Amino acid sequence: MAALLIYLWPWKSQVQLCSTWAESELVTVCGDGEAAVLGVASHDHETVPGRFLLPPAPPVSLPVIDLSGGRDEVRRAVLRAGKEFGFFQVVNHGVPERTMRELGTACGEFFRLPLADKVALYSESEDTERTNRLFSSTMCVSGGQSYWRHCLRLACYPVESTKPGWPEKPAALQPALEDFIVPARSVGMELLRLLCEGIGLPPDYFEGDLSGGEVILNANHYPACPDPGVTLGLPPHCDRNLITVLLQPGYVCGLQVSYDGGWIDVEPIPEALVINFGHQLEIATNGLLRSVEHRAVANVAVGRTSVAAFIMPTMDCVVRPAKELLGEGRPARYRSIAFRDFMRSYKL
Ligand code: OGA
Ligand code: NI
Repeated sequence: MAALLIYLWPWKSQVQLCSTWAESELVTVCGDGEAAVLGVASHDHETVPGRFLLPPAPPVSLPVIDLSGGRDEVRRAVLRAGKEFGFFQVVNHGVPERTMRELGTACGEFFRLPLADKVALYSESEDTERTNRLFSSTMCVSGGQSYWRHCLRLACYPVESTKPGWPEKPAALQPALEDFIVPARSVGMELLRLLCEGIGLPPDYFEGDLSGGEVILNANHYPACPDPGVTLGLPPHCDRNLITVLLQPGYVCGLQVSYDGGWIDVEPIPEALVINFGHQLEIATNGLLRSVEHRAVANVAVGRTSVAAFIMPTMDCVVRPAKELLGEGRPARYRSIAFRDFMRSYKL
């Protein structure tokens, strides 16, 4: 017998028969004591006929905020985007386009160096004190699962104390890192000030220990992949730090953000920086600003190199929900935790 394809027609007596349905295949069911008529498909369907298809959901994209706008307007836009997505893009942010391009190019060159030039930096183990390292394919929690990525992780700020550990090749890398990290960190700090004003914290709430740790930088390289549908560059994760400033190439997609049960692509915009909130911002704002899951997909045609700068608390900083945000009916939703302990217990 034909599979039943039934759909309930609006109540009561209204009947609509599709001309392709045979009368013998109509059934009547009772609802609320009254007969309602259901249609029964006359044959098995291999695909859903067009008239049953729901209209596609309107595409959602991350807000792109022009930081050169009026302060009130920018503050509102940043808060709105931050609350809805935990992610947004910014343009006219003060990091020169040339600086961004040069860093992207230098990182790309690093990954193309001969193995002999990179091998001394290579280490898969996160359990050493060694921050500056090159690793491939693995995440600590992956239990053997590999991902389609190489990562060069470097402590980059303060520049004077971290620079001696930066790779010497390619020659353009050190100047590019230095030119980028200082203004990129300033963008993050300015956004934190705007967010504070928006949610009722003193504007300098995140100055000091909450943002005073090193800035760690991940240069991620996702090589072109023969079958991007069966692997991932980076699995879904939230960043562990306070706030992240990410530079991605302006011509290739890869970063996706969790939204409403699905994933949205972060549109590549050459002059934009991508901003997202880390766990420490979520704790400090008692969940007002959430750290949202994101992942990176590989690409069949070209490789992609991104640079994520993680602004972090000092290791000794105890991160807790701000008392200004607690009160009657607003209990703390997170425990206080020393950043060092958070990093030890929450490995990526
Ligand atoms: C990360 C990250 C995204 C990207 O390094 O934590 O989320 O697009 N990177 O590479
Ligand atoms: Ni991330």
